[in-house]
Amino acid sequence: MARYKGTVISTRSAEETFDYMADFANAAQWDPGTASAQRLDGGTVGLGSIFRLDVRIGSRTTPLDYRIVTFDRPHRVVLLGESDTIRSEDTVTVVPAADGGSILTYDAELRLKGSFALANPVLGLFFDRIGDKGVAGLRRTLGGPVVARDRPQAGGAVAAVVDGLLEATVAGSFSSAGPALRRHTAGWTPPSRMDGMRVLVTGATSGLGLATAQGVASLGAEVVLTARGHDRAERAVAAVREAAPGADVSYLLADMGEFDQVRGLADEFLAAHDRLDVLIHNAGALTAARTLTGSGTELTVASQVAAPYLLTGLLLPALSNGVPSRVIQVCSGGMYAQTFDLDTLEMGADEYDGTTAYAKAKRAQLVLMHEWVRRMEGTGITFHAMHPGWADTPGIRHSLPGFAKVMGPFLRTPEQGADTAVWLAASPVAIETTGGFWLDRKERWEHKVPWTRLSEAEFDDAGAQLWAWCAQRTGWSGPTRPV
Ligand SMILES: NC(=O)c1ccc[n+]([C@@H]2O[C@H](COP(=O)([O-])OP(=O)(O)OC[C@H]3O[C@@H](n4cnc5c(N)ncnc54)[C@H](OP(=O)(O)O)[C@@H]3O)[C@@H](O)[C@H]2O)c1
Repeated sequence: MARYKGTVISTRSAEETFDYMADFANAAQWDPGTASAQRLDGGTVGLGSIFRLDVRIGSRTTPLDYRIVTFDRPHRVVLLGESDTIRSEDTVTVVPAADGGSILTYDAELRLKGSFALANPVLGLFFDRIGDKGVAGLRRTLGGPVVARDRPQAGGAVAAVVDGLLEATVAGSFSSAGPALRRHTAGWTPPSRMDGMRVLVTGATSGLGLATAQGVASLGAEVVLTARGHDRAERAVAAVREAAPGADVSYLLADMGEFDQVRGLADEFLAAHDRLDVLIHNAGALTAARTLTGSGTELTVASQVAAPYLLTGLLLPALSNGVPSRVIQVCSGGMYAQTFDLDTLEMGADEYDGTTAYAKAKRAQLVLMHEWVRRMEGTGITFHAMHPGWADTPGIRHSLPGFAKVMGPFLRTPEQGADTAVWLAASPVAIETTGGFWLDRKERWEHKVPWTRLSEAEFDDAGAQLWAWCAQRTGWSGPTRPV
């Protein structure tokens, strides 16, 4: 069996996109793998409508008859295609976007039948290529110019070698050498404008959060930043306005370690705004001495795992109104040293070590990000995590003074560290895909050593366990996993 999934931002309304997709007689217009397509029955397209597609396989074509088996206009249509040798189930999900357009997700499952079934294990190898071409065709047909902007390009062999060499040497990749070299590779273009978009950035009083707020405001976005106190918040607002004159910037207060304050923050946001386009969870610190928050949860995990979970959950109504919307988690390369283990995530008093607690929390952020992806599939809300490399911020100077001193000249600027978060906030790539882990605008492996990796089943379990833990601690349980 092979599965291909792709997302396309359509400039057409949900109804128009749905009608176009449900009428499979249009398939030859967008799918280069379809030589011709026709409707075999008459009347309005609906449940039971049948189509014949002549599908290209190598230099030959073979007929494949499709029938609509689920028809829920304008949300979901499922077409089942069957011949003697192939069975294909194609599911199209459409969600309306805040700008009047829509987002469509194409999910195709292909299975070979009879004696050809032996080839099922290797089917994915070429099905991905066919799927990519189909989705590219859909983007050309349904997408507006926004989709074509600032997509990362392969950048050619030289760029790939440069990137690979940097990635192999952690110091090269994480230090200022990473963006300094990668920014000269093809595809590293200015991010899309964000006029009309609203972004909430947590922990935006200094370092990467402030640079992120300045970055998105410079692209035209409205910024709501969060802080722990009025003075620092007002200084941050002024710094964003200085970087982006005329920017629409406001702030809300909350200590992310205190869940009642996170709830207050969400309530205030929702009272003032109906829509959120981008939520960036940046607030975080490496806390040397074990500290318990009001809920009795250790501060690192409370503020960097449970609080982002709670805030995302409470802001779902606004994120849904902002679809296509995105949630970005600022993670850390420190998590490469840790595997996920819920039993040891919250470190006890006798074993607490700030660096380990921080790295464990950052690993947990990735597990949680994937759980959001599972639970929010097809909603038009996407989830990504990024790590900033090593950047010269008040946070790093305070928590790792020795490291900051030695690495000083090689640390990234806050702007370089924040670049990928800004780019993810702006780029269509972050709504056409979900569940990515990024550094320097490129998806990266989530593991650098084999012992941090869980098996697929363990990883699946880990997401469910962490979700249940967050729900128990915060009192918010949210959407269940789809069955
Ligand atoms: N700098 C790096 O090299 C690096 C590398 C990997 C990951 N990161 C991640 O990047 C993010 C930003 O770090 P940074 O280096 O920019 O540090 P920073 O300069 O210390 O900024 C941290 C921000 O988070 C806020 N914050 C911390 N704990 C909070 C809490 N409990 N409640 C509310 N706000 C809180 C701080 O608010 P206050 O102003 O009130 O303290 C500040 O706005 C963090 O998630 C960090 O883990 C940084």
